[in-house]
Amino acid sequence: MTPSKQRILFTSKSGFILSAAGSAIGLGNICKFPGKAYDCGGGAFLLIYVLMVTLLGTSVMLAEFVIGRRTHKNIVGAIRQLGRRWAWLGWLGILTGCLILSYYCQIGGWTMKYIIAYIVEADVIFTDPSAYFLQTLGAEQFPLQGAVIYPLLFLLSAAFIINRGVVEGIEKLSKLLMPLFLVLLVVLMVRTCTLPNAGEGLRCLLTVDVSTVNGSVVLTALGQAFFSLSLGMGIMLTYASYLHKEENLVANTAVICTLDTLIALVAGFTIVPAAFATGITPGMDSAFSFTSLAGVFMAIPGGVVFGILFYFLLFFAAITSAISILESTVAFLTEEKHLPRRTSLILICTVLFFVGMCYTLSLVHTDWKGIWWSIAEGIQYPSFGLFLEYLTDRLLLPLCAFFLTFFVGWIWGAEEAVKEATSYGKYRFPLASLWVLLVKFAAPVAIATITIAGVILGLPVN
Ligand code: TRP
Repeated sequence: MTPSKQRILFTSKSGFILSAAGSAIGLGNICKFPGKAYDCGGGAFLLIYVLMVTLLGTSVMLAEFVIGRRTHKNIVGAIRQLGRRWAWLGWLGILTGCLILSYYCQIGGWTMKYIIAYIVEADVIFTDPSAYFLQTLGAEQFPLQGAVIYPLLFLLSAAFIINRGVVEGIEKLSKLLMPLFLVLLVVLMVRTCTLPNAGEGLRCLLTVDVSTVNGSVVLTALGQAFFSLSLGMGIMLTYASYLHKEENLVANTAVICTLDTLIALVAGFTIVPAAFATGITPGMDSAFSFTSLAGVFMAIPGGVVFGILFYFLLFFAAITSAISILESTVAFLTEEKHLPRRTSLILICTVLFFVGMCYTLSLVHTDWKGIWWSIAEGIQYPSFGLFLEYLTDRLLLPLCAFFLTFFVGWIWGAEEAVKEATSYGKYRFPLASLWVLLVKFAAPVAIATITIAGVILGLPVN
C-alpha cells in the first residue's frame, strides 16, 4: 500500500526517532516521574516501573507502530481499516489525548514562566521556592499568569508550529537540544547528589522496600509508563503512519523506550535527592521539579544560567510532546471530518484552553471537584485537576492500551503484525514469538488485572 500523497513521510532516518523520542520525553519524565517515585516508595517503584516499560511498554509501542505503518492513516482511519467495528477505539484515544493535552499545556506554560522568572527575578525564587511557585499559580488571587497567560502562550506556540509545518525545523533543533538536555540533567544529578542530605534521597530511591508495593503502586507505575512513552492514544501510531516501509520498527522501539526511561531515571535521581537536600516536599507531584531544583541552582556557581537553560530545555521537551498530541488530533479532524487544518486547530485549542484552565484553578484557587470511585474507598471527590490525571493515567491510557494489544493480537492478527514489524522479513526479530505471546496474552491480561485490582484495592485520593 502506498501512502496518500499529502501525507508527508519522514525523510531522514533520524527524523522519526527524534520525533517519537521528542514525543515521549517531556514533562512526564521530569515533572511526573520523580514525584511518583517519591510518593510510591522509591526503589520498589523504580523496579516495577522498569519492568512495566520492558514488558508492556515496548509491546504496546511496537503494536502502535505496526498499525500506523501498515495503514498510513490517522488513528481512527487506521483502526477502521484493519477492523471495521473498532473505530470507537480510535475515538477513545483522541478523547484521552485531548484530556491529557488540556492539563499538559498548563504545566508547559509554567515552564515558560520559569524561564522568564530565572532571567528577571531569580533571587525572589531563591528566597522561598515553594511560596514563589504557589504565587505563580495564584494561591491568593486569580492565577492569571499560571492558568491563563502562560498556558495560552504555550498552546499558541504549539499551534503555530503545527500550522506552519515547521516540524522539520524542530527535528533539526532536537538533534542539538536533546543531547544537551541529557548532559545538563547528568550535570545537575551529580551536583545534587553531592549536596548535604541528598544521600537520604538516594537511599530512598535505592532501597527496595517490598512492603510499600500494593495494587495502587503497580497501577501508578503502569499508567506512568504509558504516559511517559506516549502510548495508548495513537500518538506513536500516527507518527509511524508517516514512515517508510524500510524503517526497522523493532530497533526504533528499543531505542525510544531506552532513551525515555534513561531520562526519567536521571530526572528521578536529580529531583528526589534535591528535595531532601532542600527540605522541600510539596504535596502536588508536578510541583516537585519547580520547587526542589531551586535549591540546587542556588548551590551551584552560575546557578541562574543553569536555571534558565534547564527550563528552556524542559519547555522544548514539553512542546515537542504537546505537538505530537495536537498533530494526531488534527490529522484525525482533517482526514476523517474533512475540516480545514486551521479550523481544526482553533477548535481544539479553544476547548483545551478552557478545560486546562479548570485544571489549574481547581488545584489552587477554587474547590472544583471531580469524582472517583473505588470498591475499597467508595465515592471520593478529588480536586478536578487530580481527577483529570487519574482519569487519564489510571483508567483511559491502560484501557486504550488493553484494547490496542487485544486488537493487534486477536482482531487484526499477530502474524500480520509480525510481518509488518520485520518489514516482511527484511529485518531479524528474534523475539517475535515472545512479542506475540505478550501482545496476545500477557499484556492484555496484565493490563486488565492491574487496572481492575487498582480500582478494587482503592486508590488514595487526596
Ligand atoms: N510522553 C509525554 C511525556 O512524558 C507526554 C505525552 C505526549 C503523552 N504524547 C502523549 C502521554 C500521548 C500519553 C499519550 O511528557
